[in-house]
Amino acid sequence: MSTQDQGYFTEENSADVVVSKIASTTDPRLAEVMSAIIRHLHAAVKEIEPSQDEWLEAIKFLTATGHKSDDWRQEYILLSDILGVSMLVDSINNRKPSGASESTVLGPFHIPDVPELPMGSNICLDGKGEPMLIKGRILNTNGDPIEGTKIDVWQTNDDGFYDVQQKGIQPDFNLRGVFHTGSDGTYTFWGAKPRYYPIPDDGPVGKLLGSMGRHPYRPAHLHYILEADGYETLVTHIFDPDDKYINSDAVFGVKESLLAKFDLIEDPERIRAEGAEDPFYEVVHDFVLAPTS
Ligand code: BEZ
Ligand code: FE
Repeated sequence: MSTQDQGYFTEENSADVVVSKIASTTDPRLAEVMSAIIRHLHAAVKEIEPSQDEWLEAIKFLTATGHKSDDWRQEYILLSDILGVSMLVDSINNRKPSGASESTVLGPFHIPDVPELPMGSNICLDGKGEPMLIKGRILNTNGDPIEGTKIDVWQTNDDGFYDVQQKGIQPDFNLRGVFHTGSDGTYTFWGAKPRYYPIPDDGPVGKLLGSMGRHPYRPAHLHYILEADGYETLVTHIFDPDDKYINSDAVFGVKESLLAKFDLIEDPERIRAEGAEDPFYEVVHDFVLAPTS
């Protein structure tokens, strides 16, 4: 019997000893996942050579992360977000064919059962911020419009908070809406120009960010979920390319293809034509959905 099969531990064979004990598991996927995690974890510990105190700090951090989590706040997802793992898992699971729009993280602030609104509605119910007209088309990879696409959008208000973070302060469903495209695949609605905001940073993950010299901000964006029969659901954002945090998103959610153009419209004729009274920002952005295979 080899030393590792006997279960005798040495620093050199540490990962092999542990992995050998899961060889007979009946769940092959679990065996694959746990072997990889054990091997990479042991390799990291060998590289780091933590002191006992440092290892205890790590355990305390994970304990605090658990204590900060509840039904509403998920500190482990935030940890995965700031380490880029949420985006990596999202990318692996949402590989798109050429020409299709890319996905990004969902984030914790989506809510179900948002009221459906007619195209052209204004989702900004608190009247704060700079008005913004958002429009475009939902297309397939052949460039044809997709009728009946459900468009679920949400964004922060001008103070950088989602309505659900400020219950009783913002109107319910402020800056949220659900729309359905008609036969031309177009969409249009009014909102408020988004601005950057911090991810929840009052817990251990925020503290870790600070210790690593990182800020907690996400660049200004609008969230979308697009659903249509026969197509893969797309969870994505569009970003303001001029935002000061566009190159340092705390959760690494920015992809080049998700940069939109935020144009300030000051021409009085255009302002009148859109039924507005003041200058506004205009964002024209098409989305291309991948067919389900
Ligand atoms: C968001 O964009 O809503 C978000 C994403 C990840 C973590 C926190 C917030
Ligand atoms: Fe967000």
